[in-house]
Amino acid sequence: MILLSCSSNCCSLGSGVLASTNSSLKISKGSVGTSQLGYERRRGYLNNSSRVLKIVGYYGLKNPPYKLDALEPYMSQRTLEVHWGAHHRGYVEALNKQLEKNDILYGCTMDELIKVTYNNGNPLPEFNNAAQVWNHDFFWESMQPGGGDMPTLGLLQQIEKDFGSYTNFKEKFKEAALTSFGSGWVWLVLKREKKCLAIVKTTNAVNPLIWNDIPIISLDLWEHAYYLDHKNDRGAYVNTFMDHLVSWDAATARMARAQAFVNLGEPKIPVA
Ligand SMILES: [Fe+2]
Repeated sequence: MILLSCSSNCCSLGSGVLASTNSSLKISKGSVGTSQLGYERRRGYLNNSSRVLKIVGYYGLKNPPYKLDALEPYMSQRTLEVHWGAHHRGYVEALNKQLEKNDILYGCTMDELIKVTYNNGNPLPEFNNAAQVWNHDFFWESMQPGGGDMPTLGLLQQIEKDFGSYTNFKEKFKEAALTSFGSGWVWLVLKREKKCLAIVKTTNAVNPLIWNDIPIISLDLWEHAYYLDHKNDRGAYVNTFMDHLVSWDAATARMARAQAFVNLGEPKIPVA
C-alpha cells in the first residue's frame, strides 16, 4: 500500500504511474515493482482534511516470451493454453484476491513478496500463490523455440567445473526430476556462498529464492505441466525439455547478471 498526501489534481508516483483525483480512473501506464499491472485509487482523508490517495497494486499475468504454439511439437499449444492460460492465471487471480485483504504486502516486488510470505518456514497464506506466479514466469522464460542442445562458452565451462561434464550435469538434472516425489520443481541454481552451480529440488510452490540462491533454469514437475503431451510419462517430458526446449540463452543471460553478485572468477560470462 502506498499512501500519498495530495493537494493537486495530479501526482507523479514515479515509474510512469500517475494518480489522478478522478475517482473512476484506473491507470495501467508503467509499473511499480515486478509484474504489477494497473492501479486503482481509493480516496481517504487526513485529520487536516488534505486528501490521501491509497494506491492498490495488482499483479498481472505475464505473457510467455513466445507465441503459445511456438514450442510445438515439443510442448503443444494446448498445454500452453491450459498451463499458462488456466493454471498460471489462476495463481495470479488467487494472489490478487488474497492481497486485497492484506494491505501490508502491497508495494512488494514479487521477489520480496515470496521472501516475506515464506515467513522463515512458516508460510503465510499468500506464499503458495506468490511463489507459483514467480515460478511460472521463470519457467516460461527457461524455454525457447529451438532450445535444447548445449550451453556454450562461459556457462558450459562453469557447468563442467561444477558437474564434471555437461553429460554428467544432464544426467543429474534428469535424475533429480525423476526422483522428485509428487508436485514440485527442479532447478539449476547458483549458490552465492559456495560460488558454484547446483541442482535443487523443491516441493509444491517452494522456490530457491528463500535460501538466497540465484535460479538459472527451472523445470515444472507438476503433472499439469506434461499430462496433455506425455500423459504420466515424466521421463519423456524431462528428456524433451532437455533436448528441445531448455533455453541456454536465458541461462547464460541469468548467469551473466548473477556475476554482479557472485564472483565466479575468470573467464567472465559475457553479458548479453
Ligand atoms: Fe505449472
